[in-house]
Amino acid sequence: MSRRLAVTGFTGIVEEMLPGGRKMGDNEDRRVSFTQMKDGTRSDYELLQELEEQYIHGTAPRLLDELAKQAEETLTGYKITRLAHALQTATRAENDGADTDWIVSALLHDIGDRLAPANHDKFAAEILRPYVRDECTWTVEHHGSFQKIYYMHHYGGDPEERRKFAGHPYYQTCADFCERWDQASFDPDFPTRDLDHFRPAVEKVFARAPHDPAVICKGEIRGLP
Ligand SMILES: [Fe+2]
Ligand SMILES: [Fe+2]
Repeated sequence: MSRRLAVTGFTGIVEEMLPGGRKMGDNEDRRVSFTQMKDGTRSDYELLQELEEQYIHGTAPRLLDELAKQAEETLTGYKITRLAHALQTATRAENDGADTDWIVSALLHDIGDRLAPANHDKFAAEILRPYVRDECTWTVEHHGSFQKIYYMHHYGGDPEERRKFAGHPYYQTCADFCERWDQASFDPDFPTRDLDHFRPAVEKVFARAPHDPAVICKGEIRGLP
């Protein structure tokens, strides 16, 4: 189905248009017959499948909308916003010649900050898992533990929490991601590209068929470029 997506800068306004100028909300007059799932008919579930198919294609603009909200709303105290941190991490990845999987993973690695602050890394990883390489997902999933090496001694905690992953095939990749792209990306003077620049990469990744083994490349170690 052809779709027209409009993302408006950093204002957090994401509008998803369907053919004929209908918005996603225009499907609201099409409803199932049941009030309990177990009473649903085949045609009910065919309708839901069709609508879900439309909805899943809106994942990219919804993610961009969430990132845009992080321009102001999440974790204060740093010299830059959480959106700026995400953009800077993705910019560093792109500057190093990283592929689309890495750039999108870098952009989204902290997207859980606003909605899942106690496990933001796991939250981000579950968003990425069906759509990017296994190595990128694992890195995002565990970056919280690996990042502790940079600051946990100030809190009297264990900066070496990453030790529990010693010997994992992706250990060094995650260590490199944190050292080169994540922990380094809090600089207000770093030339950072804007969210609009990364929009095509996000749309490309989330237009993929989910869980495609050819994309996931389970267990394959490529490291950072
Ligand atoms: Fe993080
Ligand atoms: Fe981060």
